[in-house]
Amino acid sequence: DLARDLTGRHVVVSAGGTREPLDPVRFLGNRSSGKQGYALARSAAARGARVTLVSANAALPEPAGVDIVPVGTAVQLREAILKASADADAVVMAAAVADFRPETYATGKIKKRDGQEQPPIALVRNPDILAELAGIAADRPRPGQVVVGFAAETDDVLANGRAKLERKGCDLLVVNEVGERKTFGSEENEAVVLGADGSETPVPYGPKEALADTVWDLVAERLPKNS
Ligand code: PMT
Repeated sequence: DLARDLTGRHVVVSAGGTREPLDPVRFLGNRSSGKQGYALARSAAARGARVTLVSANAALPEPAGVDIVPVGTAVQLREAILKASADADAVVMAAAVADFRPETYATGKIKKRDGQEQPPIALVRNPDILAELAGIAADRPRPGQVVVGFAAETDDVLANGRAKLERKGCDLLVVNEVGERKTFGSEENEAVVLGADGSETPVPYGPKEALADTVWDLVAERLPKNS
């Protein structure tokens, strides 16, 4: 039954945007609403999968029948994803994860100082969760697990997407162009899904549910057969 083609599968989806605290009142963040990740979670649940949704700072209604793990920072997202993905058939990283976090957390509010032009905010790198899940080439930590990344690009979308797919080592990379009425925060998206096998699947401008369904179609084709 095609409609329930993910029955018996466990899939993990990340959604939203991480926030990296600077002090008790400020954080470094991004414009992800979580809508694309939540659409992926709803679609997978409708197709019969057991779904774990690792949700970073999304203010959205909880999809029915989905296990939600709320997180704040990239480090917390990594912990939750690695735990949930231990027995997962597929992992889809739709979250916008901060590449850097403040080196230190100020327990008191950072003050402006007279004559100071630039506040001293040192950043350190966050772990690259997608690269860690995908491993290098044939060295996938969990063989057979399908690993999907997203990339939000503003220029040279396809060329940058192809390079990112190779760098991260994932099976599929959903490349969406940042635009006024699509991608961050909107109800709609438009994308090309690149496959490590060289495939290119364009998804026309439309609801985030439609892109979610295409992603699961492509994941389902790549899952090892149920034994
Ligand atoms: O939430 P919405 O408002 O619906 O918007 C959806 C979206 C635009 C956030 C989503 O469609 C999207 O594109 N997500 C990825 C955003 C992005 O810019 O990713 P990136 O190029 O920084 O990272 C590429 C991939 O690596 C992503 O799968 C990301 O989850 C992953 N990553 C990134 C950094 C990091 N330290 N660890 C990661 O795993």
